[in-house]
Amino acid sequence: MNGQVLSSPRKRVKRDPVSKVTVVLGAQWGDEGKGKVVDMLATEVDIVCRCQGGNNAGHTVVVDSTEYDFHLLPSGIINPKCKSVIGNGVVIHLPGLFDELEKNEAKGLANWEDRLLISDRAHIVFDFHQQVDGLQELEKGQKSLGTTKKGIGPTYSSKATRNGIRVADLLGDFDQFIENGCMVYDITLIIDWIAGNREIMVRFWSGVLWVVSHALSSCKCRFQSLASVYQRMFPDLQVNVEAEIVRYKAYAERVRPYVVDTVSYLHSALKKGQRVLVEGANAAMLDIDFGTYPYVTSSNCSIGGVCTGLGLPPCHIGEVIGVVKAYTTRVGDGPFPSELKDEIGELLQTRGSEVGVTTKRKRRCGWLDIPLLQYTAVVNGYSALCLTKLDILDTLSEIKMVVAYKKKGKVLDYFPANAAEVGCVEVEYETLPGWNSNIENIREYDKLPECARKYVERIEDLLQIPGESKTFSSMG
Ligand code: IMP
Repeated sequence: MNGQVLSSPRKRVKRDPVSKVTVVLGAQWGDEGKGKVVDMLATEVDIVCRCQGGNNAGHTVVVDSTEYDFHLLPSGIINPKCKSVIGNGVVIHLPGLFDELEKNEAKGLANWEDRLLISDRAHIVFDFHQQVDGLQELEKGQKSLGTTKKGIGPTYSSKATRNGIRVADLLGDFDQFIENGCMVYDITLIIDWIAGNREIMVRFWSGVLWVVSHALSSCKCRFQSLASVYQRMFPDLQVNVEAEIVRYKAYAERVRPYVVDTVSYLHSALKKGQRVLVEGANAAMLDIDFGTYPYVTSSNCSIGGVCTGLGLPPCHIGEVIGVVKAYTTRVGDGPFPSELKDEIGELLQTRGSEVGVTTKRKRRCGWLDIPLLQYTAVVNGYSALCLTKLDILDTLSEIKMVVAYKKKGKVLDYFPANAAEVGCVEVEYETLPGWNSNIENIREYDKLPECARKYVERIEDLLQIPGESKTFSSMG
């Protein structure tokens, strides 16, 4: 008061230092090689987490010539010292999860039972979500999105509509759901029988049926309600509710030992100074807000999804590593300004073995796209880039990269929101000389041919992101 600074009687609360999490995110349209980067970094951490997406993602990790395929599991699970967390933002198809565990176990994945933790807040993908995904694609015909048909969109849509079913619901109230579900079914059958057989009583019983069904609808099985929402949309959708209830009762017991409140688990781990790595699934250009909508997935695959999908405040985020393939690929439909529909595109596809891990579809290939990377860098705030598959470019005498998007000859200083606009931007290329030599086995940046280093450094210059990428640049 009156210019005087009064000392506050309140003591300042000192916060204990908390570890920061390291995040690995796909910087393009997915399949940049995040799994391999995570696998390398996982040797130095205590916990690896998935925060969004479902089994639409796919990573192949090769360890001692054994190929492990991961879709829902954080690929860090192959590190025997690492805990693996599937966070609340992930959508889980339980049959798919156990199938993945069994397949990888047969290949040598050991002791995962002691290391897997699943959020009780994660939403469940049911088989009918997957069927609906396929039916919605069919309905769109020529305008389909090319989804993986893993039920991702329908499950996130149930989540947003607030009639979705979470892991906690499956474990907590499931018995009650079954009883209520069967009761609805049985009483409805009895009433139907009476109403059908005593003509004289039809009017009376119709009235009773109306009252009873209204009273019971409030405690109707949530699974049945959810399925019937989709059955109303797609009358041909077959769901055997009773069989599914029995099946999921068994899954509830199977998954129960791994389910925890991952939010408090992670926060106490960070307080203890444990090192946490987050493995983003899908990629920034597939993000539901920032990607090429509607040709996107249904989660936030950019940095925001890390906070909401694990319950981590932004102040806990440390390094954000953007994984960039040395060229661009895309699976499924949607605009792709640097796409190559010629023999160079084919060469990238075959040399890079560009086939989707989840759907086995050929990936579309094109040159590296700098405006796209500048945009995802702005959204994600990469502190470092990790460049993968540089050796796929080994045989090219010239290598191009897109350096600007133009509209009517004018350079765009933003990434268009409209997919049609992205599809018809004019692209400006820069051409760099190729290195025409095999760099597959080079593991030190300085040993790369000069032209390869110039390619890497040009990317760094254009993106203005610090050069830690050099550590990883020889990864194939
Ligand atoms: P959804 O995630 O199955 O709904 O598919 C939506 C779009 O995202 C489709 O174009 C898919 O091909 C694409 N997509 C989803 N996950 C991945 C991924 O992990 N890598 C590449 N593309 C993906």
